Amino acid sequence: MNVVFLGPPGAGKGTQAKYACSRRGIPHISTGDILREAVANGTDLGRRAKGYMDSGALVPDDLVVSMVAERLSRDDCGEGFVLDGFPRTVAQAEALEETLSANGGVLDGVLYFSVDDEDVIKRLSGRRICRECGANYHIEFMPPAKEGCCDKCGGELYQRDDDKAETVGERLKVYYRQTADLVDYYRDRGLVAEVDASLSPSDVQAEVEKALAGLDRS
Ligand code: AP5
Repeated sequence: MNVVFLGPPGAGKGTQAKYACSRRGIPHISTGDILREAVANGTDLGRRAKGYMDSGALVPDDLVVSMVAERLSRDDCGEGFVLDGFPRTVAQAEALEETLSANGGVLDGVLYFSVDDEDVIKRLSGRRICRECGANYHIEFMPPAKEGCCDKCGGELYQRDDDKAETVGERLKVYYRQTADLVDYYRDRGLVAEVDASLSPSDVQAEVEKALAGLDRS
């Protein structure tokens, strides 16, 4: 099953992609995670991407498209994947279609995570991430048992630089300017299942499972 999770920053795409992929044994491909790893490792890609990410802008299409094409060519994508955070522009969507069709594949569906801006701002400002294992928390909605400390590995929790108030507003603007049109782009192709992402994490998970089951049957 080849699926895209689409929606505004902080909608809960990453949280749900982790559950859905671990249940199915398919890779969760988050372009944000790959780019952050490249920045942390000081690679050429990371150096070129960092300024864009810090300001809340999109990394240029050519950099992201080739990065995703390489990732999708790996053996672990044979049974499918969830793409989280890609595509984010029409050019990226077209490139994805070309990459998949070159390998004899298609996109089976797009889950659109619908949530309002107020929820997004609350979710991003309270998000905390483990420095060691990358586990994701929220200080109010999904808190760790011990403040500042990861339940899974005991690592230190930190706030992403781009989750600070000044950058969150810019990320939302960028979403509406460059990414939101993809909902209609994929609706026109009959690929969109809408998920009410304003619900609690467990209710959103149930919605995601229902939407993915619909794709399994088709
Ligand atoms: P990226 O990392 O993709 O950021 P994003 O799309 O802004 O998505 P987020 O990871 O912020 O949110 P999410 O929807 O995954 O929410 P989460 O599950 O964590 O991209 C970062 C940057 O990289 C971009 O700005 C850009 O510069 C660059 N980039 C990446 N991809 C690119 C591309 N394709 N092209 C160009 N540039 C690219 O949840 C958020 C919080 O809410 C968490 O704390 C969570 O615990 C909590 N939460 C989750 N669900 C719920 C719920 N139902 N109720 C309450 N709280 C919840």
